[in-house]
Amino acid sequence: MKLSDSMTAAINDQIKAEFDSAYIYLAMSAYFEDSGLAGMAHWMKKQYKEEVEHAEKFIDYLYERGARVIIPEIARPKESYNDALDVFRTAYNHEQYVTSRIYKLVDMAVAEKDYATQSMLKWFVDEQMEEEDNTGGIVAKLEFLGGDKHSVYLVDRELSAR
Ligand code: FEO
Repeated sequence: MKLSDSMTAAINDQIKAEFDSAYIYLAMSAYFEDSGLAGMAHWMKKQYKEEVEHAEKFIDYLYERGARVIIPEIARPKESYNDALDVFRTAYNHEQYVTSRIYKLVDMAVAEKDYATQSMLKWFVDEQMEEEDNTGGIVAKLEFLGGDKHSVYLVDRELSAR
């Protein structure tokens, strides 16, 4: 069964959103490198790579369905932040936004009775739960520790193990 034109366009939009996410995290990684927080920079670089993988998953799905992939323009990300907590809060908010996008795709696939796309999106629904848990967990930890230099240093060390 052919993928609908509207679903093809929506997935192409999501490919762009995933690449935009990758760039946002790459810029956060650069910010941390510049701030001397190598563990957080490492964590964000891994996150960047995960986002590229997400984009590739959607690209491969369109290929599999014989639909046209449009390689998108990537928006220039924000490059400066107040501190580590500001970065992780932004990342957490961003992940909640991405989750809302994935849910809209699910709604659309349900409305179109597109069972193959619903099945493919199941992986992303689960992945978003994990992404929110990861970023939200780091926010909670930084808030709990109080955000002074010593606690940021501790969390930086912990994140270097990702
Ligand atoms: Fe691809 Fe972090 O959502």
